[in-house]
Amino acid sequence: MIDIHCHILPGIDDGADRLQTSLAMATMAARDGITTVIATPHTDGVIVNQRVVQQAVDQLNTELTGQGIDLEIAAGYEIPAELVCDLQSHTIADSCYVLVEFPHQYLPEDAVETLYTLVQAGKKPIIAHPERNASVLRNPDLLRELVAVGGMVQLTAASVTGDFGPDIQHCANYLLRNQLVHFLATDSHSPTFRKPVLSPARKAAARLIGREEADRLVVDNPKVILNKSV
Ligand SMILES: [Fe+2]
Repeated sequence: MIDIHCHILPGIDDGADRLQTSLAMATMAARDGITTVIATPHTDGVIVNQRVVQQAVDQLNTELTGQGIDLEIAAGYEIPAELVCDLQSHTIADSCYVLVEFPHQYLPEDAVETLYTLVQAGKKPIIAHPERNASVLRNPDLLRELVAVGGMVQLTAASVTGDFGPDIQHCANYLLRNQLVHFLATDSHSPTFRKPVLSPARKAAARLIGREEADRLVVDNPKVILNKSV
């Protein structure tokens, strides 16, 4: 499995606070059967810039090799929607995919336009955890228009397993059943805050949409991002 959204880099954002935390997260991920984690710190493009992130990724990969932890880290970013058109060169894992975070309380009026602008520029926007967005929670069908213009949808694994409560789980399940989901990812921030594991969500999704479709969300689709197409 490949985790495309994780705050595993130490001391960069509100994720892992230090190297030991990153290593604990990496150990959990590897034990869960995750082979690659795309590190996606929150970025404004200034303090958390491409040089800083790549350096942190290289350092963590060196530590993982040294400690014998069988996990690879790739560089990525989680970009606020209002900055994403300016920061569209900040793709994940050197691909054409960008991870976009809309505000949690509402979907901006220009959400469709933002995604369309990215698609026109040759990018593939991935909408981070829309099932946790208040507007989408009220009306999950709002996502249909975003997907229609080329947006892809990433659910948080903990939403699917019910760790965010029944409302968010219900929304996640609705999106899964309606084929509006392209990725499951951990959005992990520490070994305990949204754990860096995917297999419980993979199992829960398989019960809803079948094993093959569930595997697509944690194996096949993420592999396309890493250019290891199946
Ligand atoms: Fe995140």
